Amino acid sequence: MTGKPLAGLIAGVFAATLAVAPGAPPDEPTREAAPTATAAEARQRAKLLHGLIHDTLQVVHARYFREGERLMIPAAALKDVFREMEERDGVRLRWLVVDGKAMNIDHEPRDDFEKAAAEALAAGEAGHEAAEDGLYRFAGPIMLKAECLKCHMPSRSSNRPRTAGLLITIPVGER
Ligand code: HEC
Repeated sequence: MTGKPLAGLIAGVFAATLAVAPGAPPDEPTREAAPTATAAEARQRAKLLHGLIHDTLQVVHARYFREGERLMIPAAALKDVFREMEERDGVRLRWLVVDGKAMNIDHEPRDDFEKAAAEALAAGEAGHEAAEDGLYRFAGPIMLKAECLKCHMPSRSSNRPRTAGLLITIPVGER
């Protein structure tokens, strides 16, 4: 028989598999560190993520959530997704209270950027951003429609839509 010995062939195939997905089992997403983004790339990613999370939350509320059935609150369930993203991709997501009462004190603004972001979103701005200390930070609005307000704003005088926020933090670097 000519060609490579079988053991060498298997080792070669194994090495090729490793080259594609270092250390990860085939059906798990690879957990390599995401390459560092520039601020402009980080802004694009943040906008895409904001739109995706915003619409996912609205769809899950409309189609899967029924009050009084002891279901998990969709915004709370999505925090599991946020945790996975942070571990896998190093991108940090957090909810931000803008209008209405704090549903969870973890969502209160914590620093100057978050306070300024809450004010900007309350004033109706489409987003608030900053790049500092190797981080790009973005805050975007999450619409609270009339059906959201009975929990988010129980003592209200009108059902006009209000706002919550999503904070996105992405590491950036020089390239
Ligand atoms: C049955 C009551 C209820 C309804 C209705 C409701 N929410 Fe919430 N919402 C909560 C609770 C409770 C939390 C806090 C969850 C946690 O602990 O993370 C929350 C948290 C949130 C947050 C995180 C920011 C914050 O204020 O704490 C967002 C964003 C959000 N909800 C969006 C919505 C949207 C959009 C709707 C309507 C489509 C909606 N919610 C309807 C109870 C409700």
